[in-house]
Amino acid sequence: MTGLLDVPRVPLATLPTPLQAAPRLSAAAGAEVWLKRDDLTGFGLGGNKVRGLEYVLADAERTGCDVLVTGGGPQSNWAMLAALAARTRGLDCVLVSFGRPVPPVGNHALAELAGATLRFTGDDDRSAVDRVVGEVAADLRAQGRTPYAVGRGGATGIGALGYVAAGLELAGQLHRTGLRPAQLWLATGSCGTHAGLSAAQAWLRPGYEVVGVTVSRPAAECRERVRRIADEAAALIGTPLVPTQLLEMGADIALAAVLTWLWRRGKAPDGSVFWWYMILYSAARAVIEHWRGDTIRGLWFGGALSTSQILSAVAILLGIAMLVRGRIRARPAAA
Ligand SMILES: Cc1ncc(COP(=O)(O)O)c(C=O)c1O
Repeated sequence: MTGLLDVPRVPLATLPTPLQAAPRLSAAAGAEVWLKRDDLTGFGLGGNKVRGLEYVLADAERTGCDVLVTGGGPQSNWAMLAALAARTRGLDCVLVSFGRPVPPVGNHALAELAGATLRFTGDDDRSAVDRVVGEVAADLRAQGRTPYAVGRGGATGIGALGYVAAGLELAGQLHRTGLRPAQLWLATGSCGTHAGLSAAQAWLRPGYEVVGVTVSRPAAECRERVRRIADEAAALIGTPLVPTQLLEMGADIALAAVLTWLWRRGKAPDGSVFWWYMILYSAARAVIEHWRGDTIRGLWFGGALSTSQILSAVAILLGIAMLVRGRIRARPAAA
């Protein structure tokens, strides 16, 4: 199992960012409002995207990549910060932008100053960016490069880990200040930030609801993206949103049904059903835990097997032994 602290992260942001009271906004809103100042993350022009880049860049380095390929609009904060982060880590960067080439100003100019190569899709459809990012990465691979392709906003399980860590940081600040907010509000665009905060919420149970205000996609699409990306992020650190116990219960019921059916049809000899159940249930449990990556870390075989997997193996062996014993006993005695 990997935990959050085991996932590689490169230091880019100045953390923690302050948690500040906003008295005039509170008076206007009629509710106590505090601001988590992630505009002050400190790298480049700051902002929320720096946190995700700490994990994206570390993953690119871990996988031996030499060029970061991503994109957005010509004025995308994400794209500009990605170009800058790639430069500081010694990686090249290709940015894909929707639309037609325009003179470099603002973030576009900053990205070029950071050494990024800019490609335009020639199409105003924003969603074309992610497709062209894949095409550019394939071209680079054909040229012998090792690209790391990531879609707009860095909205992947890995990128969302930045806001899982931010959720942990915020929990520490709430603990120290004694604040117990009812809601955490944020803007939701590519959905990585919202997904990371949701995964952190499921993990830490801080007592607040995460409320996203969609800024660039339909709410239904955001809901689906947040759920999927949060699930990916949670699986990476072994805190799945759908508890393993739920899946195990499903496997449990399915096995009981199959064995009852076999038994009723006389296909399972009396007395062996229980042992078959123990073998199959233990195997299903071990496989589900392995697949979900949420096992309790074991001290066995250098951590390769968890304690519960070892116990599953013991239960399987015991079940097999009891089946064999039953067969031997059931054998008619030699005349
Ligand atoms: C301050 C701020 N909050 C939230 C978002 C939305 O983040 P995401 O694209 O991860 O949904 C953005 C987008 O860049 C942003 O600038």
